[in-house]
Amino acid sequence: MDKFRIRGGKPLHGAVQISGAKNSALPAMAAALLTSEPVTLHNIPKVRDIITMGKLLAFMSATVSMPTFPSDTYSIETNSLNDAVAPYELVKTMRASILTLGPAIARSGVAHVSLPGGCAIGARPVDLHLAALEKMGAQIATEHGYIQAKVPNGGRLKGAHIVFEKITVTGTENILMAATLAEGETILENAAREPEVTDLIHLLRKMGANICGDDSSTLRIHGVPKLRGATHSVIPDRIEAGTFLIAGAITGGELTISNCQPAHLGAIIAKLEKTGVRVETIEPTTLRVHAPKTLLASDVTTEEYPGFATDMQAQYMALATQAEGTSVITETIFENRFLHASEMIRMGASISIDGRRAVVRGPAKLSGTTVQASDLRASAGLVLAALVAEGDTLIDRVYHIDRGYEAIVEKLQSVGAEIQRLHS
Ligand code: EPZ
Repeated sequence: MDKFRIRGGKPLHGAVQISGAKNSALPAMAAALLTSEPVTLHNIPKVRDIITMGKLLAFMSATVSMPTFPSDTYSIETNSLNDAVAPYELVKTMRASILTLGPAIARSGVAHVSLPGGCAIGARPVDLHLAALEKMGAQIATEHGYIQAKVPNGGRLKGAHIVFEKITVTGTENILMAATLAEGETILENAAREPEVTDLIHLLRKMGANICGDDSSTLRIHGVPKLRGATHSVIPDRIEAGTFLIAGAITGGELTISNCQPAHLGAIIAKLEKTGVRVETIEPTTLRVHAPKTLLASDVTTEEYPGFATDMQAQYMALATQAEGTSVITETIFENRFLHASEMIRMGASISIDGRRAVVRGPAKLSGTTVQASDLRASAGLVLAALVAEGDTLIDRVYHIDRGYEAIVEKLQSVGAEIQRLHS
């Protein structure tokens, strides 16, 4: 398993280009199952989860092609999709595999998708995806670890009025995709408003879907009998951009972050400004982050978009360890998303956890040691902590970070960080 060795203490200076959003690219790839025509996607990040999704689609009989490997352009063509199976071997490595369920059942009337298991950050059930599909007429059984879904008599799913009990990002995306090919109108209430959902709507519309309500929590979808191929460029990764904003701020540096979408970073920028960080808009898609002399503590609560993203919580915790005062971090989305805290404590941070609240007292002098990454964003938080720690930090299990950050070692090296990947 590869590791990162990071020597902390260097302020970061220079420019970083943000890659495409993993969490937009994954549903966009799954959407290619909805049509027999090719779907060409640009700005796809070169990360492990994308490779896994490519393998999964190929297993489900799609032809997945790209000009070179790895590539930021994917072309996916699914001539036929009969009895599609998403096997446990692939699903267990990536929960987003569940995104194939909605398109597969909508297109072919049957789907067998392995149930994603638990996950380090929480139980993460898919009950809301299944209940919505049932409302649309699917018969669902969960047997032998698989979701067996079918539309009776080989017909189409039927439009339905669905009110999500809880806001779910991939749940909204799954049902949105399923509804594009259903008979009649589907109304989704309490839908997720994440920019990745809106990006999927833009792609589906290019494919011929009839959807209204972009950016709102009520989506209306008039099903159509068939969708066509399309070409689409996915949005920039707002979590990668936020991570680099914090990298500039925590190291006392100045970073220019290009190819990002500042409108998607509202809550993150507002929070950073509360800590004394200055974020300047240089161009419509370029930001510059200026670190203050002293970072100030500020409380944060994770929320669904447009609130502060749970996917930025670990990175913000790293920043809070360096801020003067006490920051209370409340995690409302996942029940177990503080695994990085114990590793930061081993580095010298003062953090106490009480259920869904973490109390971080700063500034703490961090020192390098060996730490374990537990999930994708926790790894990013540990990288940030290591960038300000005295001496060397060895981060183990970086396969987690490779799932969602393109070339993070090279990008950080290019702005002056002392970071190496150790292959083993
Ligand atoms: C998406 O996961 C993202 N993944 C996650 O990013 C992100 O952390 C999360 O949304 C929240 O923003 C992708 O987009 C591929 P949810 P998702 O369904 O859709 C509960 C990353 O690091 N829930 O919005 O799986 C659930 O347990 C990842 O890139 C149910 O109870 O998250 C959680 O508490 C990690 N039943 C809450 O809802 C359901 O059927 C929100 O989860 C579905 C969800």
